Amino acid sequence: MQSAKPLIVDSMGRLHPTSVLDLGCGNCKFSRKFIEDNVPVVGVDKNLTTESKGNFKFVNKNVLDFKFEPKYDLIVGTGILHFLEKENALKLIEQMKENTLIGGYHFLICMSAEESFSNETHFYPNKELLNKLYSGWEIIHSDLCLSKKHDEQRHQHKVIIFLAKKI
Ligand SMILES: C[S@@+](CC[C@H](N)C(=O)[O-])C[C@H]1O[C@@H](n2cnc3c(N)ncnc32)[C@H](O)[C@@H]1O
Repeated sequence: MQSAKPLIVDSMGRLHPTSVLDLGCGNCKFSRKFIEDNVPVVGVDKNLTTESKGNFKFVNKNVLDFKFEPKYDLIVGTGILHFLEKENALKLIEQMKENTLIGGYHFLICMSAEESFSNETHFYPNKELLNKLYSGWEIIHSDLCLSKKHDEQRHQHKVIIFLAKKI
């Protein structure tokens, strides 16, 4: 299985947003670049993982309670959707799609259905499901990959790197 890194690097290189929403932002690993470039970024996390500063606004909320504004041209959702029950994740993705500007992007990293701890209750998609959810969008990447090794056990996850553009 291919490594996630080249697809992440390629995806990030294609993105030049003017307004970003990072759902389940944690410490803003993937939106930090845009914050540093002075792009307005809203990060949402149910835990107090970071704080508002300058062009970055932190919203300490469950993503399911977040009130979307119809204005984002990049929505980032990395390592978040598997925490949600399937039905809630599907509703969230619909809201994300509705509130993205034409020409805007979604960049997702999803724990996949192939992941050893995947279950039926939560959102662990395969790429076919993601592609179906984004029918009508231009799908740039939708690939099952191995994440970077991490922690003492050198774990890797089977993730889908997904980048799509609203057309
Ligand atoms: C694995 S971390 C990923 C963080 C970051 N997106 C990244 O890629 O490095 C998952 C994050 O999602 C947050 N989270 C999980 N469920 C959430 C929910 N329902 N609403 C908001 N944040 C949530 C956690 O607090 C955590 O910060």
